[in-house]
Amino acid sequence: MARLWVRAVLKAALARLRVLGAARRARDAVTALGWIAHNRRFLHRGDGDGLPVPPARLLMLTTASPSVEWFIQSGREGADSIRELLDRHDIPIARIGTMLDFGCGCGRVLRHWADLPAEVHGCDYNAALVNWCQRRLAFARFETNGLEPPLPYTTASFDLVYALSVFTHLPEPLQGQWVAELARVLRPGGHLIISTHGEAYLDTLSEPERSRFHAGQLVVRDGDAAGSNRCGVFFSEHYLRRHFAPGFSLREHITRGARGNPPQDLALLQSRLPSPSPGTTPDSAAPAVR
Ligand SMILES: C[S@@+](CC[C@H](N)C(=O)[O-])C[C@H]1O[C@@H](n2cnc3c(N)ncnc32)[C@H](O)[C@@H]1O
Repeated sequence: MARLWVRAVLKAALARLRVLGAARRARDAVTALGWIAHNRRFLHRGDGDGLPVPPARLLMLTTASPSVEWFIQSGREGADSIRELLDRHDIPIARIGTMLDFGCGCGRVLRHWADLPAEVHGCDYNAALVNWCQRRLAFARFETNGLEPPLPYTTASFDLVYALSVFTHLPEPLQGQWVAELARVLRPGGHLIISTHGEAYLDTLSEPERSRFHAGQLVVRDGDAAGSNRCGVFFSEHYLRRHFAPGFSLREHITRGARGNPPQDLALLQSRLPSPSPGTTPDSAAPAVR
């Protein structure tokens, strides 16, 4: 408790002096220095996929850890959990034609799709992360987008969009804006996978925050830092069902199911098909997964 109080006082003092951002960057740099030896050992072993790994500065922005080993291992687990979730719903990933990693960071999960026949896209609002991906992950295409929509893709471009640890950093009104935008770029019947801060985080919330969570409302910490890891956003399955309902139906929600992003929840949603016009059969409106 005393430690939390000291941290809060220190944070307020640094913010008053307008050096909070610089202090955070210095802290991250010092943390990264401590990992150089560990990362070098791991880099010598390599990951076996022939792809380069990002510098610690970029790792910190995506995983909040400078460990290369964790970056590779957790990215593979994230990719496996997407693959397995889709398999359970008879959507083999090898038959996906176009996919988008929304908020791709420095390609932690996306790098594991290099062998897929799919057209793989990634986008992020952080240009430094996108630049690294553009230069290093040549099998995919990358774009920088704004903190707010739109995305630079035409309507109904993708069979699959996933966003791991992204809605966990978006307060309102960005939540609603991005739900609508992802529904736009998905083809009707396409799938969206997201990870969320759910029940596993209840212990970290204050009593009023827990009440909001249980009432199906959004809980937001540091909303002024929208999009960054500092902004924490928490919500329940109940919120997810209601909030995503205009564009999506929820096919599965797995508490603590986002294996590469522990202990987040994982959800599979399907973009709603337009109501069939008179004379069409349900089959003719079915999604065309390649
Ligand atoms: C915790 S990191 C996760 C990165 C990646 N999804 C992963 O799992 O490794 C959150 C990512 O979301 C990105 N992000 C946040 N808001 C965004 C927005 N409005 N549009 C695109 N990317 C965003 C951040 O730049 C960051 O790369």
